[in-house]
Amino acid sequence: MAKLYLVGTGPGSSDYLTEAAIKASESVDVLVGSQRALDLFPGFSGETLLLKARNMDEMMKKSVSLVEDGKNVAILSTGDPGFSGVLKPIMNIRDDLDLEVVPGISSLQLAAARLQISWDDVNLITLHGKGNSDAVLDLLDNGKATIVLPDFRVEKLAQFLIGNGINPERKVTVCERLSYPDERLFTGTVKEVASEEFSYLCVMVIY
Ligand SMILES: C[S@@+](CC[C@H](N)C(=O)[O-])C[C@H]1O[C@@H](n2cnc3c(N)ncnc32)[C@H](O)[C@@H]1O
Repeated sequence: MAKLYLVGTGPGSSDYLTEAAIKASESVDVLVGSQRALDLFPGFSGETLLLKARNMDEMMKKSVSLVEDGKNVAILSTGDPGFSGVLKPIMNIRDDLDLEVVPGISSLQLAAARLQISWDDVNLITLHGKGNSDAVLDLLDNGKATIVLPDFRVEKLAQFLIGNGINPERKVTVCERLSYPDERLFTGTVKEVASEEFSYLCVMVIY
C-alpha cells in the first residue's frame, strides 16, 4: 500500500525546515501544498497539486484517493500538521491509511521563542477557521499570557476583544510573517491593533 505523509514545513523560511521534512517530501510521487509551502521544494520533479483555502476539502480527498491508487503522497502543512493543520481533516476522511506525520516548527513555537515566553506558562488557542468566540475570552483572566492563532485577520480579533469587554489598553504583541525577511513584532494595545493593518500571517500574544 502506498503511503501518505503529512509534513510540517515550519513557519515559512527554509531555515526552519527539518531534514526529516525534506527526506519525506523528496521521496513521494505527488506533493500537495500551498504555494508558499511548495516554494520550499524548488527541485521537486514529481507532480504537484496547489492547495488553497477554498479547495482544501477537495485536495484532502484527492490526496487520499491518489494514495488509494498506489501513489506516495506528501501533504505539506505549514507550521505543524497537528495544530490547525491537515492532520484533523485527513483523519476525518480516513483513519486507516499508511500515514506518517512529520512534525514541524509551529508559528506558535516561533512566536514564543521570539518573545522569550516559556510554554509552561501560557494558554494556547487556535481560532483559525472557527470564527472569533468566547473560547478566547474564557482564557484571558487566568494570570497567563495567551497565544492565539486568529481566525483570519488579527485586527478583527482585536475588535472582537474590545467589543466583548476586554480593556482596550491591554497589552498585546502581534507576530507577523514570522521567519520571513519582513517579519514584524508589533507590541502595543488591543486598541492600536484594532485600527492597524496586518497581513494574513499573524499570531497574537495577549498579556
Ligand atoms: C492554517 S493555520 C496553520 C498553522 C500551522 N499549522 C502552525 O502550526 O503554525 C495558518 C495560520 O497560522 C499562522 N501562521 C502561519 N505561518 C505564520 C508565520 N510565518 N507568521 C505568523 N503567523 C503564521 C497564521 O495565523 C495563519 O493564518
